[in-house]
Amino acid sequence: MLQGKHILVGVTGSIAAYKAAILVRGLVKEGASVQVVMTPLAKEFITPLTMATLSKNPILVDFFDPEDGRWNSHVSLGEWADAYLIAPATANTLAKMAHGIADNLLLTTYLSARCPVLVAPAMDLDMFAHPATTENLSILRNRGVTIVEPGEGELASGLTGKGRMAEPEEIIAQLDRFFEKKKSLLGKRMIVTAGATIESIDPVRFISNHSTGKMGYAIAAELAERGAEVTLVSGRTHLPIPAGVQRIDVLSAAEMYDATVQAYADADGAVMCAAVADYTPEEVSDRKLKKSDDDLCIRLRRTRDIAAELGRTKGNRILVGFALETDSEEVNARGKLGRKNLDFIVLNSLRDAGAGFGVDTNKITIIERSGEQTSYPLASKREVAAHIVDKIETCFIGPETPKSV
Ligand code: CTP
Repeated sequence: MLQGKHILVGVTGSIAAYKAAILVRGLVKEGASVQVVMTPLAKEFITPLTMATLSKNPILVDFFDPEDGRWNSHVSLGEWADAYLIAPATANTLAKMAHGIADNLLLTTYLSARCPVLVAPAMDLDMFAHPATTENLSILRNRGVTIVEPGEGELASGLTGKGRMAEPEEIIAQLDRFFEKKKSLLGKRMIVTAGATIESIDPVRFISNHSTGKMGYAIAAELAERGAEVTLVSGRTHLPIPAGVQRIDVLSAAEMYDATVQAYADADGAVMCAAVADYTPEEVSDRKLKKSDDDLCIRLRRTRDIAAELGRTKGNRILVGFALETDSEEVNARGKLGRKNLDFIVLNSLRDAGAGFGVDTNKITIIERSGEQTSYPLASKREVAAHIVDKIETCFIGPETPKSV
């Protein structure tokens, strides 16, 4: 799996840096091309000469070469890499990554990298268990960074616990699985709708909802990681475009309808995660509405149901919908499953703590056409996305491949 792959290895200042030498040697042995970027402190733990010799490439530490002013471009490093593996990753570097601090080449490369990023944390057990580190890892995980969990054992501090960097063989195996994982949906074209739509009332006001798009973006990222060609039709959001995903920005339900229906013609499936307005103002004033002493009545008309339209013209495509409910959850979700001709529907309830808008977690139940239903425990949206995409995979290959309707 690693043959011919471009692996960028980031090394930070931890005693586990000595394991990075074994890691780099292992990657080269597997046939990968390896470049190494080190933080200034990492050089105190392992020499650039060792890493250069093992990687067969010069080591990058500084933004430029002080001798001749040659610029080390973090952008082209990120473009070169098929994966960026930061091992060992200290608590300090993880915190900086989580908060966008860019004070060394390793970090600027992280911020500009478009490829998948993996980190192998290495630190003392209390640092690893500290809420700051836990939160930083959670931020990174939710942005799509893969965490190679540290092991338990004797630490450099003399204490015993969780915080030891995973062994190089284990990291290589995970990287291998990572690339393998990419293959499962290779050649599949998937659409994901995400975020809230915005229906203008006048040039200043609009009707919208609380959706932030996090769930849809996590699904788009997961699909892309498994090799699918993903078109993300997105309402307004502040989220970054996941690696390898093509995004179409829309505002209104009508724009989302047009963009989604157009992309659907060539698609193998769609995941309808957007919170689409069901009503839009009948008339949009081209001037700011002025208040008066009277109450204001805005007449709304129905928007078109995108999922239902895709269901109507579904053919052999896989179609997945969402139902965010506040009450009669299952009955409502099953109704939508049938009405919109979906393969399965993902139900989440606003009554569940940790599920719903803006949060980084979700708690879902998947209800299938067969009537079968599976509930999953509360998990990060990224983990939830993996469960949903697992189900999509089984729809593509499984015996229950949908019939044309
Ligand atoms: N959906 C859509 N287009 C719409 C409305 C909904 O594609 N105009 C999709 C959503 O993305 C979701 C599913 O349909 O996958 C269910 O959306 P939801 O808003 O829960 O259901 P509605 O059909 O709008 O029903 P209600 O508002 O009555 O709950």
